[in-house]
Amino acid sequence: MHSRSFYIKTFGCQMNERDSEIMAQLLSEHGYIETSDSDDSDLIILNTCSIRAKAEQKVMSLLGVIRKQKKKKPNLKICVAGCVAQQEGRQIIERMPHVDLVVGTQNIYQLAELLEHCDKDSVATSLDDRYDIPAFIPAMVDGSSERRPAAFKKFLTIMQGCNNYCTYCVVPYTRGREMSRKVTHILEEANVLVGAGVREITLLGQNVNSYGKTNTVSSSKPDYSFSDLLREVAAIPGLDRLRFTSSNPKDLSDELMRCFADVENLCPQFHLPVQSGSDRILTLMNRKYTRELYLDKVSALRSYSPDIAITTDMIIGFPGETEQDFEDTMSLLEDVRFHGSYSFKYSDRPGTRSAELEGKVDESVKAERLLRFQTRQNEICLEHNRNYVGKVLSVMVEKVEGTALVTRATTNHLVHIADGMRKYTPGETLLAKIVRAGHHSLSGEPG
Ligand code: 5AD
Ligand code: SF4
Repeated sequence: MHSRSFYIKTFGCQMNERDSEIMAQLLSEHGYIETSDSDDSDLIILNTCSIRAKAEQKVMSLLGVIRKQKKKKPNLKICVAGCVAQQEGRQIIERMPHVDLVVGTQNIYQLAELLEHCDKDSVATSLDDRYDIPAFIPAMVDGSSERRPAAFKKFLTIMQGCNNYCTYCVVPYTRGREMSRKVTHILEEANVLVGAGVREITLLGQNVNSYGKTNTVSSSKPDYSFSDLLREVAAIPGLDRLRFTSSNPKDLSDELMRCFADVENLCPQFHLPVQSGSDRILTLMNRKYTRELYLDKVSALRSYSPDIAITTDMIIGFPGETEQDFEDTMSLLEDVRFHGSYSFKYSDRPGTRSAELEGKVDESVKAERLLRFQTRQNEICLEHNRNYVGKVLSVMVEKVEGTALVTRATTNHLVHIADGMRKYTPGETLLAKIVRAGHHSLSGEPG
């Protein structure tokens, strides 16, 4: 097998990051070598995101830059994968004829074969409603690769796709119907990870709360739910930390929330996207819950785990959003006091129902509301963070720079330690006394 090199650039969410790892592993098994510089590679893969127009524009402008690279190196192959590939398909090659291959979200496992037979104009974007995510055993690296160092924390995809059809969202069109992976495949993958030294796993899905509600997860366990899965993964000896993302509040069961009270290695952190504080806007978004139900879930979570750090996603300036609707969002922020949030200006996406709605909000109004929201959220972050000063937290080392450490608390806060007193390796856990709070991180000393 002759050796060829490849370079992958990943946009978007954790699921894309995991898909990029899968593609890298498959290519390595077929004799390709990964490079960290696109100039040195024979193949460039862009694993793309189409959640907002900005994400897609970034891909298109990078493709423009790569066109010049290909002029100098005509044998360079260019592959567009991921959500933009799935949504735009052949149109990508029509607009960008220097692209050789378009690979959709369900076709990544065939990447190596597709490349073997890739003449010009290859497009593989099938989206099967009964798609079965293949069993896939991760290859663990020994840490010698600069590009993919030995991992102490990993993502594990347990399901993909979505059946909710929130009116603003492209995911049902880019990732297809919701499908759950088989329990046996997930547990096998988790066991391999922990056996290879992984200390922290994050279970991934667009809507993990409905794990098991769709595909046959296991014929012997018909009522198997996400909390059953969570408990089984958590029980793997040697797994220090378990997290998951993402959840829809409407499907958040009491059974799952209870896990925070009694599953010891489940981290006290919950990302629970709310999107708006206005019931009127939530209805227009087709979120199928009310502000009140959301607040009830937050109280329940806090009753099971008083120190849980709740974060959210917020869309600002959805079509029809009035000043009053936005005030409702601001007051929800005060009611919940999120530990953090990702907030975005609403962006029209092709094919979604909200793109057809009237009452589009001016860009300048969206920008002004977003700034107001983010300013207040930043203050709340700092207020929360100040409460950690003086406390001793268990932190996991992420990066080591001499004796300085970048670590993460179970709540997902970044904790900087200027002098760790001894040499640590990533994945080790230590106690840190928090001495300072910033907006987005904490500083601590070995405690
Ligand atoms: N415009 C703006 N933000 C969006 N999101 C999803 N679709 C859109 C859109 N059309 C946000 C939501 C989601 C996060 C991943 O991206 O807040 O939770
Ligand atoms: Fe982007 Fe959503 Fe696709 Fe993730 S699933 S890459 S966030 S569009």
